[in-house]
Amino acid sequence: MTVTVIFGSDSGATKAVAVKIAAKTGGRLLSVQKARTADYESCDLLILGCPTYGIGELQSDWDTHIGQLEAADLASCKVALFGTGDQMTYPDSFVDAMGILYDKVVARGAQVVGFTDTFGYDFSASTAFRDGRFVGLALDEDTQSHLTDDRVNAWIGQLP
Ligand SMILES: Cc1cc2nc3c(=O)[nH]c(=O)nc-3n(C[C@H](O)[C@H](O)[C@H](O)COP(=O)(O)O)c2cc1C
Repeated sequence: MTVTVIFGSDSGATKAVAVKIAAKTGGRLLSVQKARTADYESCDLLILGCPTYGIGELQSDWDTHIGQLEAADLASCKVALFGTGDQMTYPDSFVDAMGILYDKVVARGAQVVGFTDTFGYDFSASTAFRDGRFVGLALDEDTQSHLTDDRVNAWIGQLP
């Protein structure tokens, strides 16, 4: 099975997680600046990671290069999402970027895998929260970094 991990990161937290996930899944690691439409399409499992910036917005490199994803045909693709955020400072937009990416990949026909429950998080609202679950793996390197490794390992264990 081929795995591709594509990430954006301003200050390195999401990149560090992406490196770990790529190592554990044997995936190919790509920054969103370098990723082209064919990279999104050419794997069995596509893993996308994005921090949230502004109030509930995509990280700037994701925003700049989102057209490459929007052009991809993901109808035969499984996609798993992870997002980094800060639930204490931004409780009303916690990991919203993951919700934005979810809508983008669903619009391109993807089957999204790797939903997680919200036990252990404390937030008020998130566009990544749908039908009682997160649409991917929510991580908080600002206030819960001690939980990240366990969360990542459990999540990878549930991926197809
Ligand atoms: C200006 C600014 C705005 C942010 N806005 C949000 C937000 O709306 N929601 C959220 O969950 N986290 C928000 N964060 C927290 C970042 O998503 C978090 O620190 C993340 O780990 C950064 O990832 P990076 O190091 O890969 O860039 C914000 C951080 C900054 C500095």
